Amino acid sequence: ERDAQEKGGSNYECDNVFRSLPKEEGWKIIDLYQYQQFWYPDRYLTGVISSQKHFQARDTDLFVITTPKAGTTWLKSLTFSIVNRSNYTPSTHPLLTKNSHALVPFLEIRLYANNQIPDLSTLQSPRIFGTHISCGSLPESIKDLNCRIVYLCRNTKDTFVSLWHFYNKCGGGSQNKIEIGDAFELYCKGVSAFGPFWEHVLGYWKLSLERPNNVLFLKYEDLIEDTSSQLKKLAEFLGYPFSSEEVEKGAVDEIIRLCSFESLSNLEVNKTGKLNPKIDITNNVFFRKAKVGDWENHLTQEMVERLDHITQEKLNGSGLEL
Ligand code: A3P
Repeated sequence: ERDAQEKGGSNYECDNVFRSLPKEEGWKIIDLYQYQQFWYPDRYLTGVISSQKHFQARDTDLFVITTPKAGTTWLKSLTFSIVNRSNYTPSTHPLLTKNSHALVPFLEIRLYANNQIPDLSTLQSPRIFGTHISCGSLPESIKDLNCRIVYLCRNTKDTFVSLWHFYNKCGGGSQNKIEIGDAFELYCKGVSAFGPFWEHVLGYWKLSLERPNNVLFLKYEDLIEDTSSQLKKLAEFLGYPFSSEEVEKGAVDEIIRLCSFESLSNLEVNKTGKLNPKIDITNNVFFRKAKVGDWENHLTQEMVERLDHITQEKLNGSGLEL
């Protein structure tokens, strides 16, 4: 099985890889395959394997890495805006007409999806990429070159609720809807897209402790609570710190405003636009409530206790609290 996993590449090879892997169909809209201990949606696993084989990092590359529904769309918007702030005025900003997933593409979901091998050599530095790939499965050159990684996570209960809503919104017909109880069972077992959730978070948490200069570990809740200081921290880490003159002139507030849920979710591109014209999913699936604690409206007391218990057990001794 490991041989097959390591080969990847052509469609034929990938078909063979798929056949040898454990599979779960419970989420209905996506089949998940377990590859190197993590569960990947069928359509993106080829992208994971292809990026492992072909992606060549530059030491100036920046990576936005998350578990799904941790606030990826937001963090990509903030990162893009920080790095490119001298290139645009508020009225010409690309985020006004493009979703951040188009500006900061995912390795496995977009660039290397379906076994593609994109030519990324002509992109100007710093290149900014996104990924949900687990820490242990990242393309090797990313860690070898000590690229800068920003990792964002979110509390387990809100992440789960957001994920459940997301798949039901993307699902199309009612035959693809999954009951929250069924989704919950799978989630608790670690069977969710790019999961197990806890192992994903812990992998990057440990990396951030080992390599604090290369990995910045952020939490969605902190970003919501004090966006300004988190944004300054992020800019400094990325190598694009705000000068005091910029702060005085309102550069930080401008980015916060542009990337806010209210502003992004009301743009036409995010209400009716699509990332892939061939797929009938509009960008509004990335915007729902953006509230901390919305789990209270969806989970029973029993579910809360069970999920809290799993989280406590998994994170025990790590120094991380979620
Ligand atoms: P909810 O479903 O709880 O509302 P991702 O971008 O990783 O797919 O995560 C989606 C979650 O981030 C959704 O959470 C979404 O509403 C929230 N979100 C999207 N844009 C945001 C923004 N600009 N600020 C804060 N949260 C945002």
